[in-house]
Amino acid sequence: MAKTTIRYSDYFAQTIQRMRQDGLLLVTADAAGKPNVMTIGWGAIGSIWGRPVFIVLVRPSRHTYSRLEEVGDFTVNVPSRELAAAVNLCGTVSGRDHDKFKEAGLTLIPGRQVRPPIIAECVVHYECRTLHRNDVVPEALVQAVLDDAYPAGDFHRVYFGEIVAAYAEEDAVQRLLNPALRRSRELSILCSPRITTTTPRWCGSCPRARAYSCHIANPVRAKAPARPHTGALLAQVACSWKLNALRAPKARMTENHPARLRRG
Ligand SMILES: Cc1cc2nc3c(=O)[nH]c(=O)nc-3n(C[C@H](O)[C@H](O)[C@H](O)COP(=O)(O)O)c2cc1C
Repeated sequence: MAKTTIRYSDYFAQTIQRMRQDGLLLVTADAAGKPNVMTIGWGAIGSIWGRPVFIVLVRPSRHTYSRLEEVGDFTVNVPSRELAAAVNLCGTVSGRDHDKFKEAGLTLIPGRQVRPPIIAECVVHYECRTLHRNDVVPEALVQAVLDDAYPAGDFHRVYFGEIVAAYAEEDAVQRLLNPALRRSRELSILCSPRITTTTPRWCGSCPRARAYSCHIANPVRAKAPARPHTGALLAQVACSWKLNALRAPKARMTENHPARLRRG
């Protein structure tokens, strides 16, 4: 599917959300053009000096750091949840001794405006050119953050990259939805005309709903809602499949997990 130009703020919420979940993929290149990729869990999008900016934090111990010092350009790629294993690999081994693109099954496409490439399998892309870099200063940091994030030092360098191009897959909104919500929305479209009762029952003729054990225990609405899909989605929240799907990802390492704080 084609990747079309977007405004840099169009996928702000989704980008931050994916960063807080599995992480985003930061791609850099050395002076000879050799690319490397690493996972980032910390960063920000904003408007600084009248320009759109993506801020990333990279520790000096990363191979990526030396690349960024060599060539200030980078791309930030937003993966869907299906890429969680690849994102984890890119965040746990170094490009010094691994070809992470090959090992994670990631395909490169040349950047439109910058030297580092983008990752084809991701759904939203930001191409950035470093405007400013600065170091985290321990003396200026609160003790709680020092304890949580820097027990071994290795203080991040902060890169402020001007977003010189931003583009996304045409179906990016759909692909960045939580899978449980995405399937629920698909189900809701199929089931919406039938959600008309307050009595527990199977939704009826929808085969996909049956396949997902979609037992509508507590339909939220009795009347057809003004916006059918939204109303149907609410009703699906009550179905057992949806609840199971939401329970499933318990094992994930949360954003504030101590191990993740040190790794970030
Ligand atoms: C979820 C997650 C988030 C991470 N966030 C960051 C980050 O924001 N900054 C950083 O320097 N390292 C971060 N890391 C660690 C690097 O991705 C990791 O050390 C990686 O192996 C470095 O690769 P490189 O040596 O090829 O640059 C993160 C790792 C994970 C798993």
